[in-house]
Amino acid sequence: MKLLLVLLLLALACGEAVGWIREYTFINNITDWASAKTYCRNNHTGLANVTTSVENKRLIKSGSGSEGWLGLQVNITTLNDSDPTFFNWCPGCPSKYVKCVFTNTEGFWNTGFCMNKKGFYCYRFLILVKIKMTWEEAQDYCRAKYTGLASVISEASLQQVIEESAQTQTENVWTGLSFINGIWLWVSRELLGDQVSMPPQCPAPPYRCGSVNTTSNTLNIQNCNDKLNFVCFKK
Ligand SMILES: *[C@@H]1O[C@H](CO)[C@@H](O)[C@H](O)[C@H]1NC(C)=O
Ligand SMILES: *[C@@H]1O[C@H](CO)[C@@H](O)[C@H](O)[C@H]1NC(C)=O
Ligand SMILES: *[C@@H]1O[C@H](CO)[C@@H](O)[C@H](O)[C@H]1NC(C)=O
Ligand SMILES: *[C@@H]1O[C@H](CO)[C@@H](O)[C@H](O)[C@H]1NC(C)=O
Ligand SMILES: *[C@@H]1O[C@H](CO)[C@@H](O)[C@H](O)[C@H]1NC(C)=O
Ligand SMILES: *[C@@H]1O[C@H](CO)[C@@H](O)[C@H](O)[C@H]1NC(C)=O
Repeated sequence: MKLLLVLLLLALACGEAVGWIREYTFINNITDWASAKTYCRNNHTGLANVTTSVENKRLIKSGSGSEGWLGLQVNITTLNDSDPTFFNWCPGCPSKYVKCVFTNTEGFWNTGFCMNKKGFYCYRFLILVKIKMTWEEAQDYCRAKYTGLASVISEASLQQVIEESAQTQTENVWTGLSFINGIWLWVSRELLGDQVSMPPQCPAPPYRCGSVNTTSNTLNIQNCNDKLNFVCFKK
């Protein structure tokens, strides 16, 4: 499992307090820019869209300093100061004759031939919903409004959620983790992975859902009928 990193942006929608989390994943599979874009659209929200220097730092950290494509094309000859897009060009960059943007190993950007093959960065949104619901209700809510309850969250992601913990109504927050057929699985059916761990004992129903304690940054076995805030993801 990849080390995932996130950035929280607060927003308010219809009286429902929501924290938007942009989470980056480095895909270590060298490919051209257009194929990378398709891959990220299918499996995440898109090819990484970076809008602040804080996000840029998180992105490069998520790939442990790997060069990779970003979700941006520019033509420097038609670019002007009124463009609101965030850039983090390396000195003397970008190149004038090519337009697909990639980050170097230090998080500085340049443009390259779009047909070149590189690893790439995808992103998705994690959404902290401040309504108190049971695990099942939360899952239904996430499916109806977004894509689903957040699965495959790494400890790095959890840490970012904690930064917003002062904002949550419940200390524990639901994730898309439940105990099915003798193992802990994300709702995406993926295994727990090595970024996070659960207590080893076999939990009895209804203690078969996984929450995050936002104070200790650990996953807990939790009664599925407890009403907690929760984290959805959006593809
Ligand atoms: C890597 O890329 C190749 C070619 O685009 C593709 O067939 C393969 O499924 C990819 N592997 C992963 C793990 O994404
Ligand atoms: C990513 O999307 C491709 C289709 O573009 C699909 O074949 C592949 O299985 C997906 N990979 C994962 C890890 O979901
Ligand atoms: C980046 O994401 C924002 C939404 O967070 C969107 O409005 C914007 O169009 C995206 N930019 C690119 C270049 O995809
Ligand atoms: C800046 O570029 C945009 C297109 O990228 C164009 O619409 C706009 O007119 C340009 N502004 C100036 C001042 O050149
Ligand atoms: C950038 O735009 C100019 C003027 O429209 C064009 O001549 C040039 O080929 C473009 N460069 C790239 C890399 O697309
Ligand atoms: C969360 O973790 C803290 C620190 O370990 C602990 O004191 C607290 O009781 C935990 N909260 C819940 C709701 O389990």
